[in-house]
Amino acid sequence: MRVWVPLDAAARALGADAVAEALGREFTVTRNGTRGMVWLEPLVEVERDGVRHGYGPVGPEDAASVAQAIRSGGDHPLALGPVEELPWMKAQTRLTFARVGVIDPLSVEEYQAHGGLEGLRRAIGMGSEPIVAEVVESGLRGRGGAGFPTGIKWKTVAAAAAAAERKYIVCNADEGDSGSFADRMLMEGDPLVLIEGMAIAGIAVGAVQGYVYIRSEYPDAIRLMEAAIGKARQAGILGQSVLGSAHAYDMEVRVGAGAYVCGEETSLLNSLEGKRGVVRAKPPIPALEGFLGRPTVVNNVISLASVPWILAHGGAEYAKLGIGRSKGTIPIQIAGNVRHGGLFEAAFGMSLRQIVEEIGGGTASGRPVKAAQVGGPLGSYIPHWNFDVPFGYEELATKEGLLGHAGITVFDDSADMLKLARFAMEFCAVESCGKCTPCRIGSVRGVETIDRIAQGDETGIPILTDLCNTMKWGSLCALGGFAPFPVMSALTHFPDDFRGRSEPRKEAAE
Ligand SMILES: Cc1cc2nc3c(=O)[nH]c(=O)nc-3n(C[C@H](O)[C@H](O)[C@H](O)COP(=O)(O)O)c2cc1C
Ligand code: SF4
Repeated sequence: MRVWVPLDAAARALGADAVAEALGREFTVTRNGTRGMVWLEPLVEVERDGVRHGYGPVGPEDAASVAQAIRSGGDHPLALGPVEELPWMKAQTRLTFARVGVIDPLSVEEYQAHGGLEGLRRAIGMGSEPIVAEVVESGLRGRGGAGFPTGIKWKTVAAAAAAAERKYIVCNADEGDSGSFADRMLMEGDPLVLIEGMAIAGIAVGAVQGYVYIRSEYPDAIRLMEAAIGKARQAGILGQSVLGSAHAYDMEVRVGAGAYVCGEETSLLNSLEGKRGVVRAKPPIPALEGFLGRPTVVNNVISLASVPWILAHGGAEYAKLGIGRSKGTIPIQIAGNVRHGGLFEAAFGMSLRQIVEEIGGGTASGRPVKAAQVGGPLGSYIPHWNFDVPFGYEELATKEGLLGHAGITVFDDSADMLKLARFAMEFCAVESCGKCTPCRIGSVRGVETIDRIAQGDETGIPILTDLCNTMKWGSLCALGGFAPFPVMSALTHFPDDFRGRSEPRKEAAE
């Protein structure tokens, strides 16, 4: 009997290793990625008659009784029934995450048995221009934050220089946004799909070398990506002749030291070159002068991992999903004060209300939802009365919102929005690379001004607004340029949290 216990970092943090060890004394245990239902981790699965049945959350103390239930086929209080039938799973459209949680992440055989390498094989037969055209047709936009069309970026790099010149593929796996974990879950659960996506990008633009820049806080993802690259080399997916073709492509992992700003693409490139992670002025754009001054594709993990499906099924099929200019699926990460947190992949277009209240099940505290911050620490706070906004790039922008990396952090009505605004400014002050004045100095002054308002000095409110405008329009990159969004959204939608404050408030938001 085959039993699965996740190796995902979240499941491991909750005792999955001890569970795997206990069950491994009786059964053949395979370590898989997570299904994304973090509140059910560690989620143990057992296959019966070709159907995978779940038990969760299985702590180390439950392992013996779960083993007994698996052995006897009997009932257990933690039994969940067929995993694919759980409402969280059934409501998804899992394209990029199709294999995550399903296969052994390091098995090339299982990867292929579940549709892996179909995209790369097709890409090899197509050549550069048609691959780029397929990605353009899919409407795929960068999942790292800015939402720039991936196909157009590739087209620029493909056309950038003579074929003989070196070009690079750089995968941005810095994933610094609070409440974001899609990149990590993908790299831990299906690293081969990222390798396949990067190899396709290499063939498309004429690059033979790639790098995955992973934050040092992700030791499991680093280990699994490195192991998967080794397996891919052995299987001939990487190397001098990709899958026996005339194309060469290889790649390696580079570990960042853990600065939020190193997720910004030019800062990342500096760090990758061994320099201090300071933002570079654009132009030149990395597509023309990137790593070591050469034309470079810099794409997020999810952008690159979405490409194999697009190549295997066609850009037009992908573009059928979604709304407006937000095509395809988006792995939404639901976190914060929420009952059911985790990763949920769906076509663009669900309302924020559906995501927070139906999928996420409302707050964990049971109190009313006050707001959700969408798009990481630089994203706006969307108040609950605007939750009918559809989840899409332009749609969220109508509410001054940012889709970003699609992380959602939920807050209940006890949240103190002034404290959250202060956190945004403080975060910017701590993480600023220091290159430009509005961000370096403005964020420090922003913290001081919010502290004045907290002491009841409301003359600080117009100063804060003015400061936010200066940072928004005068900063060199989006760290200083977007920090005003959470601040101003908190101030605009929840002015009462900024007025009439003479005493320190309860520490509810912390
Ligand atoms: C301060 C800052 C931090 C960023 N952090 C990340 C990150 O952790 N991961 C990421 O993919 N993009 C991040 N970005 C966006 C990148 O600069 C860039 O747009 C992205 O890597 C491009 O890939 P994509 O087109 O596939 O999204 C960040 C941007 C800024 C300004
Ligand atoms: S906005 Fe901040 S992080 Fe960006 S370049 Fe200026 S100082 Fe550096």
